[in-house]
Amino acid sequence: MHENVDELFEQIWKNYLEVTPTALKIHELLGAYEPKNIVNDHIALRTFNHKKIGLDKLAAHFIKVGYKECGEYHFDAKHLYAKHFEHTDPLKPKVFISELLLEKFSSGLQNSIHNLMDQIDERDVLKDNFIYSGRHWELDVKTYDLLLKESEYAAWTAAWGYRANHFTVSINYLNKFNTIQAVNETLKKAGFLLNTSGGEIKGTPEVLLEQSSTLADMYKVKFVDSEVEIPSCFYEFALRYKNDKGELYTGFVPASADKIFESTNTR
Ligand code: NI
Repeated sequence: MHENVDELFEQIWKNYLEVTPTALKIHELLGAYEPKNIVNDHIALRTFNHKKIGLDKLAAHFIKVGYKECGEYHFDAKHLYAKHFEHTDPLKPKVFISELLLEKFSSGLQNSIHNLMDQIDERDVLKDNFIYSGRHWELDVKTYDLLLKESEYAAWTAAWGYRANHFTVSINYLNKFNTIQAVNETLKKAGFLLNTSGGEIKGTPEVLLEQSSTLADMYKVKFVDSEVEIPSCFYEFALRYKNDKGELYTGFVPASADKIFESTNTR
């Protein structure tokens, strides 16, 4: 596990860009207006509630570099459980980790996932690079398609393994964009596709968090039997508001996150 928080995020960012070329273009687009002024609000990671690689196994990598658990979330319809973690330095990105509740799915899906998990070497889970190490198992197209029928999340996680599902531009730290609407309009004008599930903007000032996101890039993945282009990762945008105490809200809004998950839907 990494000892240095910035080094960890630098590696996660590099790994994310490898399959998310759109993120770099957007980074450059916003950065061109405001060089060095892009702060990452949070990253998100996905896993299964399997004893080898559950949420807590991923969280350990962040706790090691100064993160603390700060909130938990339930997504009943998608059968997901999540926690978010914050660093003592508020400028470090928050970390949102979710896990799929395998027992809520068919025995077919459970068997498929267990077959994949059996291939993981538990020693790898403790290694420095685990959070950005990708897939630890062989996967064929038939299994991917079967998973996709029951859970887009299961299929995505089986195909991509361990890597950031998204990074997030903090609109609070942008000077030329004060609203999420302005960010969205700039992105659309430049030709980027936004996730419109639940509307382009998820959340309101009243719930203290507004979010939007691009649709995931399409990227070729090597399966055992062939190469297939599937959704990879996306870029998110977040504007946080102050609570009654005058403090910037640092949590997540389940109704919004529920729709953000759909940024990786197949299309
Ligand atoms: Ni997010």
